[in-house]
Amino acid sequence: MLRKMRDSFSNQQYEIPLKVINDYQIYELELEKIFSRSWIFLGFEEEIPNEGDYMVRYIGPDPFIVIRGDDNKIRAFFNSCRHRGSMICTSEYGNARKFTCPYHGWSYDNKGKLIGVPLRDRIYKNLDMEKWGLIEINVEKYENLIFGSESPRIGLSEYLGEAKYYLDIIFKLTGGMRPVNTPFKFTTDFNWKIGAENFSEDRLHTVVTHKTVADFGFASPVSRFGYITPGTNEVSIADLKDTEGKVIGAFGFRFTPGEHIPGYFGFRINSTFNDPRGNLLKKISHTVFTIFPNLSGFIAADSSDGSRKDRAPVSLLRVWQPLGPDKTLIQTWVITPKDTSDEIAKRVYEITISHFGPGGAAEQDDTSIWRGITQVARGYFAKMNTTNLKAEPDLPPLEGWEGPGIVRPTQFHEECQRTFWRRWIMEILGDKK
Ligand code: FES
Ligand code: FE
Repeated sequence: MLRKMRDSFSNQQYEIPLKVINDYQIYELELEKIFSRSWIFLGFEEEIPNEGDYMVRYIGPDPFIVIRGDDNKIRAFFNSCRHRGSMICTSEYGNARKFTCPYHGWSYDNKGKLIGVPLRDRIYKNLDMEKWGLIEINVEKYENLIFGSESPRIGLSEYLGEAKYYLDIIFKLTGGMRPVNTPFKFTTDFNWKIGAENFSEDRLHTVVTHKTVADFGFASPVSRFGYITPGTNEVSIADLKDTEGKVIGAFGFRFTPGEHIPGYFGFRINSTFNDPRGNLLKKISHTVFTIFPNLSGFIAADSSDGSRKDRAPVSLLRVWQPLGPDKTLIQTWVITPKDTSDEIAKRVYEITISHFGPGGAAEQDDTSIWRGITQVARGYFAKMNTTNLKAEPDLPPLEGWEGPGIVRPTQFHEECQRTFWRRWIMEILGDKK
Protein backbone atom coordinates (compact mmCIF):
# COMPACT_ATOMS: atom_id res chain seq x y z
CA MET A 1 0.00 0.00 0.00
CA LEU A 2 2.74 2.48 0.98
CA ARG A 3 5.07 1.61 -1.89
CA LYS A 4 2.15 2.02 -4.29
CA MET A 5 1.58 5.46 -2.86
CA ARG A 6 5.24 6.38 -3.36
CA ASP A 7 5.07 5.17 -6.99
CA SER A 8 1.92 7.15 -7.50
CA PHE A 9 3.71 10.32 -6.38
CA SER A 10 6.76 9.52 -8.55
CA ASN A 11 4.45 9.07 -11.54
CA GLN A 12 2.61 12.29 -10.78
CA GLN A 13 -0.64 10.51 -10.10
CA TYR A 14 -0.75 11.71 -6.49
CA GLU A 15 -3.04 9.02 -5.13
CA ILE A 16 -3.17 8.30 -1.41
CA PRO A 17 -4.67 5.14 0.10
CA LEU A 18 -7.61 6.27 2.21
CA LYS A 19 -6.58 3.71 4.82
CA VAL A 20 -3.44 5.66 5.84
CA ILE A 21 -5.75 8.16 7.51
CA ASN A 22 -7.06 5.70 10.06
CA ASP A 23 -4.93 2.67 10.75
CA TYR A 24 -3.29 1.68 14.01
CA GLN A 25 -0.13 0.25 12.43
CA ILE A 26 0.40 3.44 10.44
CA TYR A 27 -0.08 5.45 13.63
CA GLU A 28 2.60 3.38 15.39
CA LEU A 29 4.93 3.90 12.44
CA GLU A 30 4.30 7.65 12.58
CA LEU A 31 5.25 7.81 16.26
CA GLU A 32 8.46 5.91 15.61
CA LYS A 33 9.57 7.34 12.29
CA ILE A 34 8.14 10.84 12.34
CA PHE A 35 7.33 12.10 15.82
CA SER A 36 10.40 10.73 17.58
CA ARG A 37 12.78 12.21 14.97
CA SER A 38 11.24 15.55 14.05
CA TRP A 39 11.45 18.85 15.88
CA ILE A 40 8.08 19.39 17.53
CA PHE A 41 6.86 22.79 18.76
CA LEU A 42 6.35 22.76 22.53
CA GLY A 43 5.55 26.35 23.44
CA PHE A 44 6.85 29.88 23.87
CA GLU A 45 9.64 31.03 26.15
CA GLU A 46 7.25 33.65 27.57
CA GLU A 47 5.13 30.87 29.06
CA ILE A 48 7.89 29.92 31.51
CA PRO A 49 9.71 33.21 32.26
CA ASN A 50 11.11 32.39 35.73
CA GLU A 51 13.48 29.77 37.07
CA GLY A 52 11.44 26.73 38.10
CA ASP A 53 8.48 27.61 35.80
CA TYR A 54 7.18 24.61 33.90
CA MET A 55 4.46 23.56 31.45
CA VAL A 56 3.41 20.09 30.38
CA ARG A 57 3.49 19.64 26.60
CA TYR A 58 3.17 16.73 24.18
CA ILE A 59 4.92 14.96 21.35
CA GLY A 60 2.26 12.69 19.97
CA PRO A 61 0.67 11.12 23.04
CA ASP A 62 3.84 11.47 25.17
CA PRO A 63 3.73 14.15 27.89
CA PHE A 64 6.85 16.19 28.67
CA ILE A 65 7.63 18.61 31.47
CA VAL A 66 9.16 21.65 29.80
CA ILE A 67 10.93 23.49 32.60
CA ARG A 68 13.29 26.39 33.14
CA GLY A 69 15.81 25.04 35.66
CA ASP A 70 17.49 26.90 38.50
CA ASP A 71 20.32 27.55 36.04
CA ASN A 72 17.85 29.36 33.69
CA LYS A 73 18.25 26.65 31.05
CA ILE A 74 15.10 25.23 29.43
CA ARG A 75 14.91 21.44 29.36
CA ALA A 76 12.20 18.87 28.59
CA PHE A 77 11.70 15.62 30.51
CA PHE A 78 9.44 12.66 29.86
CA ASN A 79 6.72 13.04 32.48
CA SER A 80 7.18 9.57 33.92
CA CYS A 81 8.87 8.43 37.10
CA ARG A 82 11.93 6.23 36.59
CA HIS A 83 10.83 3.93 39.41
CA ARG A 84 7.60 2.41 38.12
CA GLY A 85 6.41 4.91 35.54
CA SER A 86 3.94 7.07 37.42
CA MET A 87 3.23 10.52 36.00
CA ILE A 88 5.18 12.78 38.31
CA CYS A 89 3.71 16.13 37.30
CA THR A 90 -0.06 16.31 37.19
CA SER A 91 -0.63 20.02 36.72
CA GLU A 92 -0.31 21.74 33.35
CA TYR A 93 1.58 24.78 34.64
CA GLY A 94 3.45 25.71 37.76
CA ASN A 95 6.74 26.49 39.43
CA ALA A 96 8.78 23.82 41.16
CA ARG A 97 12.25 23.34 42.59
CA LYS A 98 11.60 19.61 42.66
CA PHE A 99 8.99 17.01 41.75
CA THR A 100 8.00 14.24 44.12
CA CYS A 101 6.37 11.18 42.63
CA PRO A 102 2.88 10.55 44.06
CA TYR A 103 3.36 6.75 44.00
CA HIS A 104 6.38 5.88 46.21
CA GLY A 105 7.89 9.30 46.72
CA TRP A 106 11.01 9.41 44.54
CA SER A 107 11.99 13.03 43.93
CA TYR A 108 13.80 14.88 41.15
CA ASP A 109 15.20 18.42 40.98
CA ASN A 110 14.20 20.83 38.21
CA LYS A 111 17.24 19.79 36.20
CA GLY A 112 15.94 16.20 36.11
CA LYS A 113 18.36 14.71 38.64
CA LEU A 114 17.10 12.02 41.02
CA ILE A 115 17.68 13.53 44.46
CA GLY A 116 15.58 11.50 46.87
CA VAL A 117 14.44 7.91 47.32
CA PRO A 118 12.52 6.99 50.52
CA LEU A 119 14.29 4.27 52.55
CA ARG A 120 17.20 4.41 50.13
CA ASP A 121 19.79 3.50 52.77
CA ARG A 122 17.83 0.44 53.88
CA ILE A 123 16.36 -1.05 50.69
CA TYR A 124 18.12 0.53 47.66
CA LYS A 125 21.75 0.29 48.68
CA ASN A 126 23.06 -0.17 45.13
CA LEU A 127 20.84 2.32 43.33
CA ASP A 128 22.87 4.52 40.99
CA MET A 129 21.25 7.93 41.51
CA GLU A 130 23.05 9.40 38.49
CA LYS A 131 21.58 6.81 36.18
CA TRP A 132 17.94 7.11 37.25
CA GLY A 133 17.28 10.80 36.59
CA LEU A 134 14.33 11.84 34.40
CA ILE A 135 14.62 11.04 30.71
CA GLU A 136 15.58 14.20 28.87
CA ILE A 137 14.98 15.05 25.23
CA ASN A 138 16.69 17.64 23.04
CA VAL A 139 15.43 21.21 23.23
CA GLU A 140 16.30 24.05 20.86
CA LYS A 141 14.84 27.45 20.13
CA TYR A 142 13.96 29.39 17.02
CA GLU A 143 13.49 32.97 18.23
CA ASN A 144 11.20 32.57 21.29
CA LEU A 145 9.66 29.31 20.05
CA ILE A 146 10.73 26.18 21.94
CA PHE A 147 11.00 22.88 20.06
CA GLY A 148 11.78 19.40 21.36
CA SER A 149 12.99 16.25 19.69
CA GLU A 150 13.72 12.81 21.00
CA SER A 151 16.37 11.81 18.44
CA PRO A 152 16.86 14.46 15.79
CA ARG A 153 19.06 13.82 12.76
CA ILE A 154 19.88 17.51 12.41
CA GLY A 155 19.64 20.67 14.53
CA LEU A 156 16.50 22.79 14.61
CA SER A 157 17.93 25.52 12.40
CA GLU A 158 18.90 22.98 9.72
CA TYR A 159 15.54 21.25 10.13
CA LEU A 160 13.57 24.44 9.48
CA GLY A 161 15.90 25.12 6.55
CA GLU A 162 14.35 27.24 3.82
CA ALA A 163 11.13 27.68 5.79
CA LYS A 164 13.03 30.10 8.04
CA TYR A 165 13.05 32.65 5.22
CA TYR A 166 9.26 32.96 5.59
CA LEU A 167 9.01 32.19 9.30
CA ASP A 168 11.39 35.12 9.86
CA ILE A 169 8.87 37.46 8.26
CA ILE A 170 6.35 36.49 10.90
CA PHE A 171 8.56 35.86 13.93
CA LYS A 172 11.40 38.35 13.36
CA LEU A 173 10.49 41.22 11.04
CA THR A 174 7.30 41.96 12.96
CA GLY A 175 9.53 42.61 15.97
CA GLY A 176 8.68 39.09 17.20
CA MET A 177 5.42 37.45 18.17
CA ARG A 178 4.20 36.70 21.67
CA PRO A 179 1.52 34.32 22.89
CA VAL A 180 -1.59 36.07 24.18
CA ASN A 181 -2.90 33.08 26.09
CA THR A 182 -1.99 29.75 27.51
CA PRO A 183 -2.92 27.53 24.59
CA PHE A 184 -6.52 26.50 24.42
CA LYS A 185 -6.80 22.84 23.67
CA PHE A 186 -9.32 20.23 22.78
CA THR A 187 -9.33 16.65 21.66
CA THR A 188 -11.37 15.58 18.69
CA ASP A 189 -11.81 12.43 16.68
CA PHE A 190 -10.04 13.06 13.40
CA ASN A 191 -6.61 12.06 12.18
CA TRP A 192 -3.84 14.65 12.71
CA LYS A 193 -2.66 14.53 9.08
CA ILE A 194 -5.90 16.03 7.77
CA GLY A 195 -5.36 19.22 9.77
CA ALA A 196 -1.66 19.46 8.91
CA GLU A 197 -2.41 18.91 5.22
CA ASN A 198 -5.26 21.42 5.23
CA PHE A 199 -3.17 24.22 6.79
CA SER A 200 -0.48 23.62 4.16
CA GLU A 201 -2.83 25.88 2.14
CA ASP A 202 -6.07 24.26 1.14
CA ARG A 203 -7.55 27.19 -0.74
CA LEU A 204 -9.97 24.92 -2.54
CA HIS A 205 -12.01 24.19 0.57
CA THR A 206 -12.37 27.69 1.96
CA VAL A 207 -15.36 28.98 0.07
CA VAL A 208 -17.15 25.62 0.11
CA THR A 209 -16.54 24.47 3.68
CA HIS A 210 -16.58 28.00 5.08
CA LYS A 211 -19.27 29.39 2.79
CA THR A 212 -21.43 30.68 5.61
CA VAL A 213 -18.49 32.37 7.31
CA ALA A 214 -17.69 34.09 4.00
CA ASP A 215 -21.31 34.96 3.19
CA PHE A 216 -21.79 36.70 6.51
CA GLY A 217 -18.73 38.83 6.01
CA PHE A 218 -16.23 37.20 8.37
CA ALA A 219 -13.93 36.26 5.51
CA SER A 220 -12.45 38.94 3.32
CA PRO A 221 -14.11 39.89 0.02
CA VAL A 222 -10.84 39.13 -1.73
CA SER A 223 -11.12 35.51 -0.59
CA ARG A 224 -14.39 35.18 -2.44
CA PHE A 225 -13.27 37.17 -5.45
CA GLY A 226 -10.14 35.08 -5.60
CA TYR A 227 -12.26 31.98 -5.86
CA ILE A 228 -13.60 33.23 -9.16
CA THR A 229 -10.38 34.74 -10.44
CA PRO A 230 -7.45 32.73 -9.14
CA GLY A 231 -4.11 34.39 -8.74
CA THR A 232 -5.26 37.96 -8.33
CA ASN A 233 -3.46 38.71 -5.12
CA GLU A 234 -1.83 35.59 -3.81
CA VAL A 235 1.03 33.14 -4.02
CA SER A 236 1.66 29.69 -2.70
CA ILE A 237 5.09 28.46 -1.75
CA ALA A 238 5.62 24.71 -1.89
CA ASP A 239 8.59 22.38 -1.56
CA LEU A 240 10.58 24.33 1.01
CA LYS A 241 13.50 22.12 1.98
CA ASP A 242 15.59 21.38 5.05
CA THR A 243 19.37 21.23 4.79
CA GLU A 244 19.21 17.52 3.94
CA GLY A 245 17.14 18.37 0.87
CA LYS A 246 13.89 16.99 2.25
CA VAL A 247 10.71 19.00 1.88
CA ILE A 248 9.76 20.56 5.19
CA GLY A 249 6.83 22.87 4.64
CA ALA A 250 4.56 25.08 2.58
CA PHE A 251 3.07 28.56 2.92
CA GLY A 252 0.28 30.51 1.33
CA PHE A 253 0.34 34.31 1.28
CA ARG A 254 -2.37 36.71 0.20
CA PHE A 255 -1.68 40.38 -0.35
CA THR A 256 -3.49 43.64 0.06
CA PRO A 257 -4.55 44.70 -3.42
CA GLY A 258 -3.44 47.84 -5.21
CA GLU A 259 -1.65 50.40 -3.10
CA HIS A 260 -0.47 48.51 -0.11
CA ILE A 261 -1.75 49.92 3.12
CA PRO A 262 0.51 49.45 6.12
CA GLY A 263 -1.69 46.65 7.41
CA TYR A 264 0.87 43.86 7.84
CA PHE A 265 -1.44 40.96 8.48
CA GLY A 266 -3.88 43.49 9.87
CA PHE A 267 -1.56 44.54 12.70
CA ARG A 268 0.10 47.91 13.03
CA ILE A 269 3.71 47.01 13.49
CA ASN A 270 6.56 49.26 14.53
CA SER A 271 9.27 47.80 12.38
CA THR A 272 12.12 49.38 10.49
CA PHE A 273 11.92 46.91 7.61
CA ASN A 274 15.60 47.14 6.91
CA ASP A 275 15.44 43.58 5.65
CA PRO A 276 14.53 43.11 1.96
CA ARG A 277 11.71 40.85 3.12
CA GLY A 278 10.14 43.87 4.81
CA ASN A 279 8.51 44.80 1.50
CA LEU A 280 6.83 41.43 1.48
CA LEU A 281 5.64 41.86 5.05
CA LYS A 282 4.05 45.22 4.19
CA LYS A 283 1.88 43.59 1.54
CA ILE A 284 0.76 40.49 3.36
CA SER A 285 -2.79 40.34 4.61
CA HIS A 286 -3.02 36.60 5.15
CA THR A 287 -0.81 33.59 5.62
CA VAL A 288 -1.38 29.95 6.38
CA PHE A 289 1.34 27.34 6.70
CA THR A 290 2.41 23.94 7.95
CA ILE A 291 5.90 22.94 9.02
CA PHE A 292 6.25 19.16 8.97
CA PRO A 293 4.96 17.29 10.75
CA ASN A 294 2.39 19.12 12.87
CA LEU A 295 3.02 22.84 13.37
CA SER A 296 0.59 25.14 11.60
CA GLY A 297 -0.08 28.84 11.60
CA PHE A 298 -2.81 31.14 10.37
CA ILE A 299 -2.80 34.94 10.38
CA ALA A 300 -5.48 36.79 8.49
CA ALA A 301 -6.42 40.44 8.39
CA ASP A 302 -10.12 40.81 8.82
CA SER A 303 -10.33 42.41 5.41
CA SER A 304 -7.66 42.25 2.77
CA ASP A 305 -8.56 45.70 1.48
CA GLY A 306 -8.09 47.22 4.93
CA SER A 307 -11.63 48.56 4.98
CA ARG A 308 -12.50 47.24 8.45
CA LYS A 309 -10.04 48.91 10.74
CA ASP A 310 -12.34 48.31 13.70
CA ARG A 311 -11.64 44.59 13.57
CA ALA A 312 -8.55 42.66 14.64
CA PRO A 313 -6.92 39.85 12.68
CA VAL A 314 -7.28 36.16 13.35
CA SER A 315 -3.79 35.10 14.43
CA LEU A 316 -2.72 31.73 15.72
CA LEU A 317 -0.12 29.01 15.92
CA ARG A 318 -1.19 25.42 16.59
CA VAL A 319 0.01 21.83 16.84
CA TRP A 320 -1.87 18.70 15.84
CA GLN A 321 -0.80 15.99 18.30
CA PRO A 322 -1.89 12.47 17.40
CA LEU A 323 -3.36 10.57 20.33
CA GLY A 324 -4.33 7.67 18.11
CA PRO A 325 -5.18 7.11 14.45
CA ASP A 326 -8.57 8.70 15.04
CA LYS A 327 -7.86 11.15 17.84
CA THR A 328 -6.04 14.47 17.80
CA LEU A 329 -5.16 16.94 20.53
CA ILE A 330 -5.22 20.45 19.08
CA GLN A 331 -3.34 23.13 21.02
CA THR A 332 -3.69 26.69 19.81
CA TRP A 333 -1.78 29.81 20.82
CA VAL A 334 -3.22 33.17 19.85
CA ILE A 335 -0.23 35.31 18.85
CA THR A 336 0.38 39.01 18.29
CA PRO A 337 3.43 41.15 17.58
CA LYS A 338 5.29 41.76 20.84
CA ASP A 339 4.59 45.49 20.86
CA THR A 340 0.82 45.06 20.51
CA SER A 341 -1.16 46.60 23.37
CA ASP A 342 -3.11 44.36 25.73
CA GLU A 343 -6.32 45.87 24.42
CA ILE A 344 -5.55 44.88 20.81
CA ALA A 345 -4.30 41.50 22.01
CA LYS A 346 -7.66 40.94 23.70
CA ARG A 347 -9.50 41.72 20.47
CA VAL A 348 -7.22 39.40 18.54
CA TYR A 349 -7.96 36.69 21.09
CA GLU A 350 -11.72 37.21 20.82
CA ILE A 351 -11.83 37.11 17.04
CA THR A 352 -9.41 34.18 16.82
CA ILE A 353 -11.37 32.09 19.29
CA SER A 354 -14.62 32.94 17.51
CA HIS A 355 -13.15 31.41 14.34
CA PHE A 356 -10.76 28.73 15.63
CA GLY A 357 -11.68 28.05 19.24
CA PRO A 358 -13.25 24.66 20.01
CA GLY A 359 -16.66 26.16 19.22
CA GLY A 360 -15.39 28.54 16.56
CA ALA A 361 -17.25 28.90 13.29
CA ALA A 362 -14.37 27.86 11.03
CA GLU A 363 -13.24 25.13 13.42
CA GLN A 364 -16.69 23.56 13.45
CA ASP A 365 -16.91 23.72 9.66
CA ASP A 366 -13.59 21.92 9.31
CA THR A 367 -13.74 19.38 12.09
CA SER A 368 -17.16 18.01 11.18
CA ILE A 369 -15.77 17.16 7.73
CA TRP A 370 -12.45 15.86 9.04
CA ARG A 371 -14.22 13.56 11.49
CA GLY A 372 -16.18 12.18 8.56
CA ILE A 373 -13.01 11.46 6.57
CA THR A 374 -11.54 9.69 9.59
CA GLN A 375 -14.70 7.65 10.00
CA VAL A 376 -14.83 6.42 6.40
CA ALA A 377 -11.10 5.66 6.50
CA ARG A 378 -11.63 3.14 9.29
CA GLY A 379 -13.22 0.25 7.45
CA TYR A 380 -12.77 -2.35 4.75
CA PHE A 381 -13.61 -0.16 1.74
CA ALA A 382 -10.87 2.27 2.70
CA LYS A 383 -8.33 -0.46 1.98
CA MET A 384 -9.42 -0.66 -1.63
CA ASN A 385 -9.77 3.02 -2.39
CA THR A 386 -7.49 5.96 -2.92
CA THR A 387 -8.03 9.69 -2.58
CA ASN A 388 -6.13 12.13 -4.76
CA LEU A 389 -4.28 15.43 -4.90
CA LYS A 390 -4.21 15.81 -8.66
CA ALA A 391 -5.09 19.49 -9.06
CA GLU A 392 -2.71 21.43 -11.34
CA PRO A 393 0.32 19.11 -11.49
CA ASP A 394 2.00 21.14 -14.25
CA LEU A 395 1.42 24.68 -13.08
CA PRO A 396 4.51 26.74 -14.00
CA PRO A 397 6.28 28.51 -11.15
CA LEU A 398 6.27 32.27 -10.79
CA GLU A 399 9.36 33.86 -12.37
CA GLY A 400 11.45 36.42 -10.53
CA TRP A 401 10.44 35.58 -6.96
CA GLU A 402 13.37 36.16 -4.63
CA GLY A 403 12.70 33.70 -1.84
CA PRO A 404 13.13 29.92 -1.70
CA GLY A 405 10.58 27.26 -2.60
CA ILE A 406 8.52 26.68 -5.69
CA VAL A 407 6.27 29.70 -5.91
CA ARG A 408 3.06 29.84 -7.89
CA PRO A 409 0.91 32.90 -8.53
CA THR A 410 -2.23 31.18 -7.31
CA GLN A 411 -3.35 28.94 -4.49
CA PHE A 412 -5.82 27.04 -6.66
CA HIS A 413 -3.87 23.80 -6.88
CA GLU A 414 -2.76 21.04 -4.49
CA GLU A 415 1.01 21.36 -4.62
CA CYS A 416 1.26 22.53 -1.00
CA GLN A 417 -0.63 19.47 0.22
CA ARG A 418 1.57 17.30 -2.00
CA THR A 419 4.55 18.81 -0.17
CA PHE A 420 3.21 17.48 3.13
CA TRP A 421 2.55 13.98 1.77
CA ARG A 422 5.90 13.76 -0.02
CA ARG A 423 7.67 14.18 3.29
CA TRP A 424 5.26 11.85 5.05
CA ILE A 425 5.80 8.94 2.68
CA MET A 426 9.56 9.55 2.65
CA GLU A 427 9.74 9.28 6.43
CA ILE A 428 7.40 6.33 6.74
CA LEU A 429 9.35 4.32 4.16
CA GLY A 430 12.73 5.53 5.41
CA ASP A 431 13.73 7.06 2.06
CA LYS A 432 16.71 9.38 2.01
CA LYS A 433 15.12 11.94 -0.33
FE1 FES B 1 7.40 6.93 41.20
FE2 FES B 1 7.37 4.60 42.43
S1 FES B 1 6.53 5.10 40.51
S2 FES B 1 8.18 6.48 43.12
FE1 FE C 1 -10.84 25.42 6.98
